[in-house]
Amino acid sequence: MKIDILTIHPQLLQSPFEHSILKRAIDKNLVDVKLWDIRKFSTHKQKSVDDYAFGGGAGMVMMIEPIDNCLQEVKKENQPDEVIYLTPDGEVLSQKLANHLSTLKHIVMICGHYKGVDQRVRDNFVTREVSIGDYVLSGGELAAAVLSDAIIRLIPGVLSDETSALTDSFQDDLLAPPVYTRPMEYKGLKVPEVLFCGDHKKIEEWRHQQSLERTKKLRPHLTKE
Ligand code: ADE
Repeated sequence: MKIDILTIHPQLLQSPFEHSILKRAIDKNLVDVKLWDIRKFSTHKQKSVDDYAFGGGAGMVMMIEPIDNCLQEVKKENQPDEVIYLTPDGEVLSQKLANHLSTLKHIVMICGHYKGVDQRVRDNFVTREVSIGDYVLSGGELAAAVLSDAIIRLIPGVLSDETSALTDSFQDDLLAPPVYTRPMEYKGLKVPEVLFCGDHKKIEEWRHQQSLERTKKLRPHLTKE
């Protein structure tokens, strides 16, 4: 998979891809992530990327031209399956959406700032708008990092069988069960007995029951009863 991220703050987006699972996925060539600096595509003397909103009002708007120029360069390499604009008014990210996006070959993400991007970018270049939750961030960069992480860990080969995403919370509309590790007792706090019984079927039943209870309590809308 290829992910191209268009941003005015490429440095802000470097670190998430330089550690842990995302780094491993890149090192194994399972994903190629490229950060594009929108400012480099500005034809203005000062390399500006934003301007005042027509009609007045507070806040600057990101201009269409540098984004269009940058997108054209991205598209020279190959045509994306989706051009995603990260915005608080987009479709709220879900595991289902991450699953779908993880099956694509080429995704472009556009990070907005200020009051957002000129609407003509959204109307003409963007194929999907995604929000990572009902709150407002200073820009789309952290949202693009979250979306990339949610997608990349699902690409076959990125996680080992042991850590397979199939057992993640939300994969079957259930939250994951609680997990414990050594020591068996810490300052009087004990691990549930059932986990030591050696009966895998019984342990799996217990885990499933715990998942159901957690889901009912914490995400009641996911339980179908
Ligand atoms: N940009 C600013 N806030 C955002 C959010 N909640 N999701 C995606 N992009 C954003």
